[in-house]
Amino acid sequence: MRKVVHVAVIVVLLGLFGLNNAFAIHGKEHPKKKAILLVAFGTSVPEAQKVYEKIDEKVRQAFSGEEVRWGYTSDIIRSKLAKEGKSIDSPELALAKLMEENYTHVAVLSLHTIPGAEFHDLNRNAKLYGQMAGGFERILVAWPLLSSHEDMVKVAERIIKHLPAERKPEEVVLLMGHGTEHHPADAVYAAMNQVFQGMDSNVLVATVEGYPALNDLLPQIEKSGAQKAYLVPLMLVAGDHAMNDMAGDEPDSWKSILEAKGLQVVPVLKGTGEYPEVVDVWLDHLRAAFSHF
Ligand code: CO
Repeated sequence: MRKVVHVAVIVVLLGLFGLNNAFAIHGKEHPKKKAILLVAFGTSVPEAQKVYEKIDEKVRQAFSGEEVRWGYTSDIIRSKLAKEGKSIDSPELALAKLMEENYTHVAVLSLHTIPGAEFHDLNRNAKLYGQMAGGFERILVAWPLLSSHEDMVKVAERIIKHLPAERKPEEVVLLMGHGTEHHPADAVYAAMNQVFQGMDSNVLVATVEGYPALNDLLPQIEKSGAQKAYLVPLMLVAGDHAMNDMAGDEPDSWKSILEAKGLQVVPVLKGTGEYPEVVDVWLDHLRAAFSHF
């Protein structure tokens, strides 16, 4: 009786071994191959593109020898660039290509500012690439810039440190975040407004499309008695919103609105991607994801 059991166990073990081999033979198991995918909204503004290039360089330095790819989420930007002969993939297409090329472990960095709708869409789609047959063994999406209180404090400190040297303490600095009416992560901007003011009561954050809006902060700005305001984007690059809604000459730009209130306005066209120490916060998030591979 005992002998029969032993034989049965051996048969089962051989069977499992055989199955495993069969998987390997049919190419289900690939040697470990890691990649990084950087995902941003995308930009067609040449100065902003240079910022992307700098970030690319910084990532390649920090992860030397690793494969680094890009994906732009904006189809408008992608088709605009395609007309100029520059073809950039969507994150989904970039992932499909990596899958085709037998990459097994992918860390995706969301170069967004808040964990809002774009981040969550990216996260959802990226996860599916880990679920489909022949998909990645592991795919992780690193957090965007402002994903914890610690991130907010670091970013606020580093932006304040690099404000124009000539700015006097009684002068207002107003940062422009994007903001959204469609996602609760919009609350990060109100939190950032508080974090900045804890460090410097004349540094404020408002948004283009979310809360707080400029209107919400105007009473505070007027009450401060400041004669001069610096406008600074709280966005990866100083793109369309910074150039037009913030610093443009149209009557509804932040610059025009504050000038109409009698303030002297100095726009600072420098996105968060242009402060190497702020980019380091994104890199820390990427490192945390990549360290799981
Ligand atoms: Co926008």
